[in-house]
Amino acid sequence: MNQIQSYISEHKNRFLNELIELLKIPSISADSAYKNDVLKTAEAIKISLKKAGCDYVEICKTDGYPIVYGEKIIDSNLPTVLVYGHYDVQPPDPLNLWDSPPFEPVIKSTEKHPDGAIFARGACDDKGQMYMHVKALEFMTATNQLPCNVKFMIEGEEEVGSANLATFVKNNQEKLKNDVILISDTGMIANDVPSITTGLRGLSYVEVEVTGPNRDLHSGLYGGAVANPINVLTKMIASLHDANNHITIPGFYDNVEELSKEERAEMAKAPFSLENYKKALDIDAVYGEAGYTTNERNSIRPTLDVNGIWGGYTGEGAKTVIASKAYAKISMRLVPHQNWEEITQLFKTHFENIAPKGVKVNVKPHHGGQGYVTPIDNIGYQAASKAYQDTFGKTPIPQRGGGSIPIVALFEEELKSKTILMGFGLDSDAIHSPNEHFGIWNYLKGIETIPYFYKYFTELSK
Ligand code: BES
Ligand code: MN
Ligand code: MN
Repeated sequence: MNQIQSYISEHKNRFLNELIELLKIPSISADSAYKNDVLKTAEAIKISLKKAGCDYVEICKTDGYPIVYGEKIIDSNLPTVLVYGHYDVQPPDPLNLWDSPPFEPVIKSTEKHPDGAIFARGACDDKGQMYMHVKALEFMTATNQLPCNVKFMIEGEEEVGSANLATFVKNNQEKLKNDVILISDTGMIANDVPSITTGLRGLSYVEVEVTGPNRDLHSGLYGGAVANPINVLTKMIASLHDANNHITIPGFYDNVEELSKEERAEMAKAPFSLENYKKALDIDAVYGEAGYTTNERNSIRPTLDVNGIWGGYTGEGAKTVIASKAYAKISMRLVPHQNWEEITQLFKTHFENIAPKGVKVNVKPHHGGQGYVTPIDNIGYQAASKAYQDTFGKTPIPQRGGGSIPIVALFEEELKSKTILMGFGLDSDAIHSPNEHFGIWNYLKGIETIPYFYKYFTELSK
């Protein structure tokens, strides 16, 4: 056992208990009923950063939830790593589908996590992964081997679009100055197949409202004679994909980068079992854009999905009614070079154009952000790759991810530095879903791997 491994085994129970305490606070940024809990979480992180060895910590106010900042500057001539993470979590609903309450963490073992996993909202996304960095810092300062400077920026609004973080970053360029940004808020292929995320998709999120008659109507007296907003909305939504599942919005694909045959062949080398994929989701077939594999569909291709749809009567029994209004929430996952604001505008124009006479359409943009690709020919990626080689005994596979962390593109634009995405979660960890969990092995492996990143990044910077 080397030094970091023995430090981890000595402090393992405390590392778990500290994370469990953090997971007990319901820091749901989307729901204002939890405001005090979100603020309390920021306080808790500030204290833990200080304890872990930051010389300076601060709660930075914004127009929304605060950003926790911490730093340990040992020598201004040495490189600086900026760690980003988020302390807010997604709402836990539907609550009845959780096997244990979302904010009462429990440890259970699973097929993928035989050593146990912590079940709680935020366990993987992102409290558990963010806290690995706090504990890695604790190790490096306690044993006097932090090789460079470190800054932490932990926000509380990632799950609702990071609107105030953008302003904070723009206004604090000097404070946030760094040589590389390090984030653990993504996943890897499997515990025995380490991978580093090299891409994130962009996002455009919109809400649509279709209004027909000015009031709800008797479906016998008026049915068939006026536009039914729910019928119309579903018809409009269905028309957004063609028979090959291509998106039909004019101009939608204009800036989509087509990968070369070689790049696609390289991607296809990542281990993937379609059988296991289907089995895990209990589906008899996959579904998606013609001409692309499952891994391409969920990473290098843009998508359009209805996330929620409602209107009319959904209570018990039957009510014969034609609703006045119908609604849907729609997300579009974008790939690099697609501008999210442009895509939002294209969607709005198209949706208004395809609306039949007899209804009014209102498209309300929510939030969005640009996609991102990390090149692998830089010292940040190389340092991460070497770190995984030391702790996993294998070279990690570069892999583009399907999720979004919109702020990453802005980091590059404003701070001019590359982001390295060292994620230790698994796709099966159920982030945003009931029974979210994070493997204890993954948590400890992250803590073990991070200090090597600092070491190699500092060495490669010389
Ligand atoms: N950590 C996720 C993003 C993620 C997860 C990326 C796994 C890659 C792999 C993040 O917290 C998240 O949920 N992002 C949102 C976007 C945000 C604007 C709400 C998403 O991807 O839906
Ligand atoms: Mn996250
Ligand atoms: Mn998330």
